[in-house]
Amino acid sequence: MKSAREQQLIQLAEAEIEKNQAIVNADPYRLRYHLMPPVGLMNDPNGFIHWRGTYHVFYQWMPFKTGHGAKFWGHYSSADLVHWRHEKIALAPSEWFDKDGCYSGSAIDHNGTLTLFYTGNVKDEKGERSTYQCMAVSENGTDFTKKGVVLELPSGYTAHFRDPKVWKKDDVWYMIVGAQSENLDGKAVLFRSKDLTNWEHLGAIAGGHDGDFGYMWECPDLFELDGKDVLIVCPQGLKPNGMLYNNVYQSGYFVGELDYNNIQYVHGDFTELDRGFEFYAPQTTVDAKGRRLLIAWMGVPDQYEDKHPTIAYKWIHALTIPRELELVNGKLHQRPVEELKKLRREEVVYPNVALMSETKQFSNVSGQSVELLLERIDGRGILTIHIRDNAKFLYDYENGIATLERKSFVDGQVEKRQCQLNELRTLRMFLDTSSVEIFLNDGEEVFTARIFPDSNNEQIIFQANDRISFDLKKWKLC
Ligand code: FRU
Repeated sequence: MKSAREQQLIQLAEAEIEKNQAIVNADPYRLRYHLMPPVGLMNDPNGFIHWRGTYHVFYQWMPFKTGHGAKFWGHYSSADLVHWRHEKIALAPSEWFDKDGCYSGSAIDHNGTLTLFYTGNVKDEKGERSTYQCMAVSENGTDFTKKGVVLELPSGYTAHFRDPKVWKKDDVWYMIVGAQSENLDGKAVLFRSKDLTNWEHLGAIAGGHDGDFGYMWECPDLFELDGKDVLIVCPQGLKPNGMLYNNVYQSGYFVGELDYNNIQYVHGDFTELDRGFEFYAPQTTVDAKGRRLLIAWMGVPDQYEDKHPTIAYKWIHALTIPRELELVNGKLHQRPVEELKKLRREEVVYPNVALMSETKQFSNVSGQSVELLLERIDGRGILTIHIRDNAKFLYDYENGIATLERKSFVDGQVEKRQCQLNELRTLRMFLDTSSVEIFLNDGEEVFTARIFPDSNNEQIIFQANDRISFDLKKWKLC
């Protein structure tokens, strides 16, 4: 059961959806196959789980404006990760322990009960923050009852302590929380519990020291993949370093081994998950097929958030397409989930394309929501794919550098993100009305970004400054 206050907030949010539906839906930049807020601001995906045969993705949601604030948990469900249903609002910031936001968290199945863990964000009259890790439960997967606080702030950390991710290992529950230590280092902090309500503090298992790796780590996720323990975190405060760390905040991972007996995590270096402009706060889950799936926010906090053109239509941000993770030679590869093939319509095929210092368009290879697949790519010089006269993907064979350029939606200037990639064999691009996700070599590197082209421009142009060959396929997606 929900409190009267929570029910009241939910009604206000529902009224806001109703009131703004027409304007939101009139936006030509509304995406066709990505999860978006019905109105207002969406940020992190939360509580990603495959539960009783249904996929659930909750999301951080501010229904009343296109800025951040006291977050709700919105809710989508799906049988196939492709077709989604907007469900009843799961959580509203109604209680003393979460009144300024039901912040990010995760979901588990506990003896058949869908159980959520989230951060209760609270601010006092002076704006001083408190943080509580809270629990909520549902028997049917759509109606959630809050159970209150299960974990208070341990000593040694500031109130920037949030985003619990919970999992089970050998009949014991573990929770990892994103934190800032008292001397302002970002940390990932581990807890253990037998009953989900009493949590033992095991200490920080990863993090910076003396400011060497960010002042706060958000949204940790720890999971086993191919016998390794992967820790995903979103550090804040890393300085740009050549091609690395050019967004306002980062999102990446460590591969290592977690010794659950001695509580020690030995790991390698941090690697960014995505090389594009908008990608943050990813969350993973395992489904019934045993796949490790990832979905992320197609946005970054504090990065041009007040400049998105969709604000005029009363909404902002979206989630990425769901991806399957694989560990290949110690590196996470991300592949669009297989089910997305269901969206394919009207296949167009051009085998054995050979471009010799030329620019070329292919008939029927254009559109706003399309998938492009280039296979057996080979050549010399630079391959450029112009996307709706607004963005460009380039691969430089001589230097082994992949680049995504776009016209900034802030000032129209060209901005770019890059990564080193020794060879390019395949390229799979998911274009939607205002987004692009490019998977190179079956997900070895990914570029994710929002783009806001002229809605009448559907052109995709290929260019080679020397000699490039590939097989090309294209589908309309809807
Ligand atoms: C990451 C984040 C989380 C927090 C949530 C609030 O984008 O700042 O750390 O829980 O968003 O909406």
